[in-house]
Amino acid sequence: QSNSVVVVFGGLWWSFFSTCAGNIVPEKSENGGWRKDGDKVDLAEQSLLNKLIRHSLVRNRNQVEVLQRDPTSPLYSVKTFEELRLKPDLLKGVYNMGFNRPSRIQENALPMMLAQPPQNLIAQSQSGTGKTAAFSLAMLSHVNPANKWTQCLCIAPTYELALQIGQVIEQMGKYCPDVKLAYGIRGNRMERGIKLQEQIVIGTPGTVLDWCTKYRLIEPKKITMFVLDEADVMIATQGHRDQSIRIHRQLTKDCQMLLFSATFEDSVWRFAEQVVPDPNIIRLKREEETLDTIKQFYVVCKEKEDKFTALCNLYGSLTIAQAMIFCHTRKMAAWLTANLTKEGHQVALLSGEMTVEQRASVIERYRNGKEKVLVTTNVCSRGIDVEQVSLVVNFDLPVDMDGNADNETYLHRIGRTGRFGRRGFAVNMVDSKHSMDIINQIEMHFNRRITKLDTSDLEEMESLMS
Ligand SMILES: Nc1ncnc2c1ncn2[C@@H]1O[C@H](COP(=O)(O)OP(=O)(O)OP(=O)(O)O)[C@@H](O)[C@H]1O
Ligand SMILES: [Mg+2]
Repeated sequence: QSNSVVVVFGGLWWSFFSTCAGNIVPEKSENGGWRKDGDKVDLAEQSLLNKLIRHSLVRNRNQVEVLQRDPTSPLYSVKTFEELRLKPDLLKGVYNMGFNRPSRIQENALPMMLAQPPQNLIAQSQSGTGKTAAFSLAMLSHVNPANKWTQCLCIAPTYELALQIGQVIEQMGKYCPDVKLAYGIRGNRMERGIKLQEQIVIGTPGTVLDWCTKYRLIEPKKITMFVLDEADVMIATQGHRDQSIRIHRQLTKDCQMLLFSATFEDSVWRFAEQVVPDPNIIRLKREEETLDTIKQFYVVCKEKEDKFTALCNLYGSLTIAQAMIFCHTRKMAAWLTANLTKEGHQVALLSGEMTVEQRASVIERYRNGKEKVLVTTNVCSRGIDVEQVSLVVNFDLPVDMDGNADNETYLHRIGRTGRFGRRGFAVNMVDSKHSMDIINQIEMHFNRRITKLDTSDLEEMESLMS
């Protein structure tokens, strides 16, 4: 087996960051901005949604890159949880969660987080690769249960995300009855002046800051491990960013600082550098989406009714496992859903006005095959992984603010079909000269042919799409 770790020695931190930034498809409109279709991209919601629909670890075959603060110290990685020499009760909790061995990012992050003397860490890897589980384990291992004061402090961007992390810690610490956890979230009222006995506090920046300063429930100087989870989501809100820095200022310089993020933007790294001095850095590049196993087509239509007819022809003539249809606006998505339903299709609609829970349940039903078609706008469906999709339809083509082809979004939408070597189809609806231009731009950008399809010619369609 080849060595799966790339170690970067020396050089400027910044050049390391820059290489990071250059290698990914930037995640557009991820800063909480408004997209053209009026759906607000809420990073925290997106992150929560991903967790609600995820059933297991996201596997990644890429190499882990490690930048060590002290390049002369040996690089440890573990292939088993036993090697970490955890307390037996904690190990039992880990296995009880169904974890057999450390994930890619955990192989390197765990030994670093548990090392003596303590080391600071900045870790970045895509959603679902085991970051939260990693530091939960580190916190549980770090605390001394005999000491009845707060030793580990963890902050996350929202109430819901803090609760999610807390659940992981509780589950993992199931067999460590002496380790207690408190939730520093709104609504959790505490008496002023008392000192918390819980060894671990997980909360949101505002409440945790109050608990440290105003209420003095926590003695910041006694905190020996500080964790910032979802840093990318955190800094999307200015208030959170400032509050995190204010909490950080209360801590001693010996406190171990750990920061986790799912993305690599410059803004995240600048924040990370501010709160994590002399860090080790671990990152795991995301697996790239590709168009190689996907056959791409376009259909020329007049207007939306025409597009609808083409879609029905397409659907009627193909044996399609599951399809995902993208519209530009909520209104269009609703119109299309109503019409498809009228035609007798079982259709799920994912729309911006739904709560995260509602969206999670729609996606769950679709994943389980209860509906074969999912109609959605771009904003709602970012980052959702539905493996069995064999057809993606761009009912409206992806365009940026200036009306040009949005290639990243195209790749993002289409890339979800044809996963794992399976074949997939992508069909683009063209309804104007402008949208034909966009198809040409996309063809040029990816250097892949998009073939014209006549949905009224059954025979041609069958031969092209077989
Ligand atoms: N070593 C492991 N073996 C098996 N499953 C794991 C392991 N580590 C984590 N998991 C599971 O994988 C899923 C993702 O883990 P986790 O939430 O820690 O990822 P994350 O990187 O924090 O994701 P996000 O960026 O979305 O917060 C969870 O369901 C978790 O229980
Ligand atoms: Mg996480």
